[in-house]
Amino acid sequence: MTDSAPSLPSNASYAENADILAVRYENLTFDDIYGPLAAFVPEGGQVIDIGAGTGRDAAALVARGFSVLAVEPTAEMRAHGQRLHPDPAITWCDDLLPDLSRVRRLGIEADFILMTAVWMHLTEEERRRALPNVLSLLKPRGRLLMSIRKGPVPVGARMFEIPIEPFIEAARGEGLELLQLNRSEDMHGRPGVSWTKLAFEKTKRA
Ligand SMILES: C[S@@+](CC[C@H](N)C(=O)[O-])C[C@H]1O[C@@H](n2cnc3c(N)ncnc32)[C@H](O)[C@@H]1O
Repeated sequence: MTDSAPSLPSNASYAENADILAVRYENLTFDDIYGPLAAFVPEGGQVIDIGAGTGRDAAALVARGFSVLAVEPTAEMRAHGQRLHPDPAITWCDDLLPDLSRVRRLGIEADFILMTAVWMHLTEEERRRALPNVLSLLKPRGRLLMSIRKGPVPVGARMFEIPIEPFIEAARGEGLELLQLNRSEDMHGRPGVSWTKLAFEKTKRA
C-alpha cells in the first residue's frame, strides 16, 4: 500500500476484528514480545502505552510497578482492555498518533513510553509529525521501546513498510539514542511477517 494518500484510517479493521484480536494478543506476554529488550524497561514510574490494544502490556507494566496511561483510539479494543485488565493503575485514554492532543494536554512526563505494533500504521508524513509529539511526553533519560511489523498487509488494514535505518537516523535527530535493535520472526507464526524491536533513550529535552 502506498503511504502518500491512504484511503483508510490508521486503525482500520481493528473495531470489526477486536474480539478475535483480543484473544490473539492476550496469548503473548510482554516478555515474549520484547525478549532481551525487556531489560531496558526502567525501574518504574509513569509509562504511556500508545496503541495499547487490550492492555496486555499495560497490565505487565503495572506488575513491574508502573502507573500506566493506556492510549487506544479503537473503542472496541479499549472495551476489551477495561474488561480484561480492570486495574486502577491503568488509565485509558481515547487518543491517537500523530497528534496525541488529549494526552499532551494532560501535562504528563513519562519515564517510559511503549509503542508495540503501531508505528507501521502511520504514513511517512504522520510518522514525521508523531515523533516530536511522542518525545515531548518523555523525560530526559526516559526510555522508549517499540516494535515494528514488516510483511503482508492484512485485508482491510492500513500498514506501511518502514525503512528502519532512516527511522533510527530521524530518531537520533530528535534526541533519541538507540540502545538496542532486535529482529525476530512473527510470534504468531504468520508467513512472511517479521518484526524489528527497538530500545531508545532520550538524551535531550525535545
Ligand atoms: C497491532 S495492534 C497492537 C496492540 C497492542 N500494542 C499489542 O501489542 O497487543 C495496534 C493497535 O494500535 C491502535 N492504533 C491504530 N492506529 C493508531 C494511532 N494512530 N495511534 C494510536 N494507536 C493506534 C489500534 O487500534 C490497535 O489497537
